[in-house]
Amino acid sequence: MHLTVVGTGYVGLVSAVCFAELGHTVAGVDIDERKVRTLQSGTPTIYEPGLEEVLRRTIASGLLSFTTDITEVLPKTSVVFSAVATPPNEDYTADLRAVFTVAETVARHADHDLVFVNKSTVPVGTGQDCEQRIAAILAERGAQLRVPVVSNPEFLREGSAIKDTMNPDRIIVGINGDDWATELMDDIYQPLVRTGKPLVHMSRESAELVKYASNAFLANKISFVNMLARFCDVTGANIRDVAHGMGLDGRIGSRFLHAGIGYGGSCFPKDVKALIAMSRHFNVPLPLVDATHDINQSQRMYFFQKLLNALPEGSTVGVWGLTFKPKTDDMREAPSLDLIHMLLKGNHKVQVYDPIAMDNAREILPQEVMFASSPLEAARGADALILLTEWDVFRGIGMQDIKAAMRGTALFDGRNVYDPDEAKKAGLEYYGVGIGSRD
Ligand SMILES: NC(=O)c1ccc[n+]([C@@H]2O[C@H](COP(=O)([O-])OP(=O)(O)OC[C@H]3O[C@@H](n4cnc5c(N)ncnc54)[C@H](O)[C@@H]3O)[C@@H](O)[C@H]2O)c1
Repeated sequence: MHLTVVGTGYVGLVSAVCFAELGHTVAGVDIDERKVRTLQSGTPTIYEPGLEEVLRRTIASGLLSFTTDITEVLPKTSVVFSAVATPPNEDYTADLRAVFTVAETVARHADHDLVFVNKSTVPVGTGQDCEQRIAAILAERGAQLRVPVVSNPEFLREGSAIKDTMNPDRIIVGINGDDWATELMDDIYQPLVRTGKPLVHMSRESAELVKYASNAFLANKISFVNMLARFCDVTGANIRDVAHGMGLDGRIGSRFLHAGIGYGGSCFPKDVKALIAMSRHFNVPLPLVDATHDINQSQRMYFFQKLLNALPEGSTVGVWGLTFKPKTDDMREAPSLDLIHMLLKGNHKVQVYDPIAMDNAREILPQEVMFASSPLEAARGADALILLTEWDVFRGIGMQDIKAAMRGTALFDGRNVYDPDEAKKAGLEYYGVGIGSRD
């Protein structure tokens, strides 16, 4: 089937590549000319394990192409997937301007029946809004076309996006009573359904909410364990043991039960905020979601404050890890950004290292930041070292080597990856989250 994916960011690019890998003919459309040119040459614009290989293969097979001009590809397209960004507004609502622009552009240029699919994360009711906007433009044009709107939220995780897309836990398809759209969506995903991946049909509103509900639930687990970590800090319990003991209960599960500096990235913070905005809009309180957000907001500061309190004026601080999680180059809402700005404001010197995101970081961090060429170079001469992202490369570095590189002794482990006893044995002062850290 001929598909168009509009927006070739983290979700759109991976979706386009994977649809082509499943045998569809796919056009990726983006307004960013530089991005499109880079993708046309077979070079990925984001870091994602396995992406480059599939990108090159599907371009070479003729199934995948990229353009900035949607009108070139629309005439052949059966289904348009919109995968543009939906960032948070100041008031926590989702900024839907890009989604509406895509829907309206499709309505303006469609010359045959086609299906419009929202793959972006959009608030409940956005599908209906898109449908009305499309209908208004078609009526204005006097075009008797059928353009049903479908919700097909995306659940991939950065860092394992290709694997997640080819092996999804579930495919959610929300359609309000259109058999033709249902048939096309089933055909698109048939190669995955044939190998046992569940495709679940539901109403468009339910599909829109599944995405927010899933992310808010996972974020809630993280905030829950972080809340307990602070309790551990004063009671003498160890959150690692507590979470391990909890996670072994099959009803609870061990995933998303790691205490640290809270969640970041482009999805959890924004989706939790958008659900809070929806609860205000519909005037239905969602207190667990409010608490999830509040705990996360204060968690970062709770840990960073310990570091700031421990630093004399003009200290040098090594920062390990800049991305919001390992195996991605995404810096959106990464805790490192907040911390680095606070350190610089306090007149401290900052030396950073990240195995993948140094180029992205150079574009957004102030010039005073020193970009090291290795983890130990970032630690060299530092009064304090803080681990913010649990990249594997940091796990393997010995405590003695860290101690030898540093001038001071304070090791702040924002992800609880190190053994406090080993750190102490090496002569380091260890600060973790909820595992016997000092105030
Ligand atoms: N990143 C994730 O891990 C993830 C996972 C699941 C769902 N989502 C959701 O998917 C959506 C996209 O997220 P993302 O991280 O891929 O965003 P992104 O910012 O990486 O990509 C968006 C792309 O859309 C392009 N774009 C913007 N307006 C356009 C227009 N009018 N026409 C064509 N292209 C346009 C931008 O140039 C950019 O390349 C969001 O709603 C997000 O919440 C993201």
